Amino acid sequence: MDIKHIFVVGAGTMGNGIAQTAAVSGYRVTMMDVAEEQVQRGKAAIDKSAAKLAEKGKLTAEQQAAAGAITTTTELVGVAEADLVIEAATENPELKFKLFQDLDEVAKPGVILASNTSSISITKLAAGTGRPGEVIGMHFFNPVPLMTLLEVVRGSATADATVSAILEVGAQMGKTAVVVKDSPGFISNRILCPMINEAILAFEEGIADAEGIDTIMRLGMAHPMGPLALADLIGLDVVLFIMEVLHRDFADDKYKPAELLRQMVAAGELGRKSSKGFYSY
Ligand code: CAA
Repeated sequence: MDIKHIFVVGAGTMGNGIAQTAAVSGYRVTMMDVAEEQVQRGKAAIDKSAAKLAEKGKLTAEQQAAAGAITTTTELVGVAEADLVIEAATENPELKFKLFQDLDEVAKPGVILASNTSSISITKLAAGTGRPGEVIGMHFFNPVPLMTLLEVVRGSATADATVSAILEVGAQMGKTAVVVKDSPGFISNRILCPMINEAILAFEEGIADAEGIDTIMRLGMAHPMGPLALADLIGLDVVLFIMEVLHRDFADDKYKPAELLRQMVAAGELGRKSSKGFYSY
């Protein structure tokens, strides 16, 4: 299928970043969220990001206008007109399983349903639909307009044609794609989240303060951000959720979430989005 129109479900950080990237890459884009307020917040984030990139000469005036022309909606019905659906809703398994069933009912036959999930099994999401061959993971990284990786997750039933089509879309979006098998945390979060969890354990043990730990990883390992600052960017609730998936699905205590991570999430200290995590914002 010739993909021209992409429907993005979710206008949060990941959804609006994906919508923006698709629009500036020449796709017609519709971005959906459950409430008008969320949609408008997503639109405002896109306008701000596109303006910043245009100012730096990284987007043409035409691309900036394309980002501004993204259509928004609070209904799923528009999915019927899309050639590709990318789901970037809240990382809640029940919500996503139901959403995939709904998307399957509304989308045209043959349309690929992709999920930006960071930890939910693509095979399981696919199994709840009538089109398991057309379900795939398209895992983007925050901030989506700047991060050039696309982790493509192949479920057990994902068809070769689906993988090829998504690799083409990824390339048009300017991303370097890596195809991985469906496995807890895929590759990215299986490696990243235990590293962050280990940094939290070291902080909890008082081996060094947050700035010290982050400086070591920035200057010693050339990471653009230290693991604790990155946890604040990702969201501590998201890191905890992924560690719980790894711990449960591998049944291995090496993935046990740090107690401090649990406490901070319970206290509502989620990182940048709550203005407080390992740092204050
Ligand atoms: N759109 C446009 N511009 C943006 C932007 C966005 N969405 N986000 C940041 N920028 C801009 C900043 O405004 C800043 O512009 P100025 O230089 O003009 O001020 C510029 O990018 C550089 O930002 P900073 O100076 O704040 O910091 P930086 O040079 O360290 O770059 C960064 C920021 C790109 C985020 C970099 O720190 C980085 O690569 N960090 C690691 C991010 C990462 O690991 N992401 C993956 C998280 S995991 C995930 O997403 C998946 C999951 O499943 C959990």
